[in-house]
Amino acid sequence: MLILSIETSCDETAASITQGRRVISNVIFSQVDLHKQWGGVYPSLARREHEAKIDPIIAQALKNARMKIEEVDAIAVTFGPGLVIALEVGVRVAKELTVKYRKPLIPVDHLEGHLYSAFAQNRAGKPARKFEFPFLGLIASGGHTSLVLVKGHQDYEIIGKTLDDALGEALDKAAKILGLGYPGGPIIEELAKKGKPDFIDLPLPLVGRPGLDFSYSGLKTAFRYQVEKMSPRDILAALPHLAASFQAKAFTHLLKKVEAALDNTGLKLLVAGGGVVANQLLRTRLRALAKPKGATLYFPPDEILISDNAAMIGVAAHFKYQNGIYLKGNFDSLDRIGRTDLHYWTTKTV
Ligand code: KG4
Ligand code: ZN
Repeated sequence: MLILSIETSCDETAASITQGRRVISNVIFSQVDLHKQWGGVYPSLARREHEAKIDPIIAQALKNARMKIEEVDAIAVTFGPGLVIALEVGVRVAKELTVKYRKPLIPVDHLEGHLYSAFAQNRAGKPARKFEFPFLGLIASGGHTSLVLVKGHQDYEIIGKTLDDALGEALDKAAKILGLGYPGGPIIEELAKKGKPDFIDLPLPLVGRPGLDFSYSGLKTAFRYQVEKMSPRDILAALPHLAASFQAKAFTHLLKKVEAALDNTGLKLLVAGGGVVANQLLRTRLRALAKPKGATLYFPPDEILISDNAAMIGVAAHFKYQNGIYLKGNFDSLDRIGRTDLHYWTTKTV
């Protein structure tokens, strides 16, 4: 079964053709250069760019797959969460194509996409990873930091989430405090390679507090406070150390909660996704955590599947379609774009 997927939840306009878990084409237009000057995503600009790029990106995804839209069996679209005015562009186009070509429409939660990204395959069906339920999902992106107990396809329980900022957002804000560019995550990673992680003393968030939730805003404030005490010259000289200190503490907080989640649940499969998972230090630290516990760790198998893309939406959509979760003809529920109630995504915490 061939699925055309569309993703416009933030600042990437993306379209993809997938067949089951196999990625046939995966086209992404990143608006990052456009938003850089604002130090973050500028919603109305994002919408305008999605409007301008969505048709050519879909055409390119079909072209790369050597396919006509008539040949696809269903259309999938990211329904939320994300910037509502950006999501609306993808949902509108998906709806129009669905009606015009009489295809079923599969609404997908953006987080579901990140969770399934590790299970995407190339055209040859590699890697042949198995879904071994239940498993622990970790999503670390610009919008979310979540631990998800995945009991089966579309059977999720969020067991930990951020109480304020997401990890990627915190890295972006720390970069801003240091006067660096956007997005900050990759810049911090690069700088930190030459820095001392214990250069400044930052508080580990939520110490002594049970549970699996995250918090990054206190860490960010403590960081800002320390940086503001330094002269611009000293900041410049210490950039790698400051980046390394912030990054290390932010990751330690994440790792502590991941470890507690593995220990509490006894799960032996950890599946990670979301933009921050591109970070090599984070990967190394997650591997070091999983290995002694005998836990298997999956990351998205290709770089293009890490940050926002439509192929991950297509992979998640495949399993929704198989379970009969799609819309045909009646799109009333699509008026609730951005809400989480149609997402087959629970917010129950344990
Ligand atoms: O998943 P994503 O592309 O979009 C959202 O759904 O939010 O994640 C974007 C986030 C940004 O905050 C960015 O700074 C972060 O992922 N990021 C990184 C790296 N690459 C992207 N964070 C740390 N290290 C990286 N190499
Ligand atoms: Zn994302």
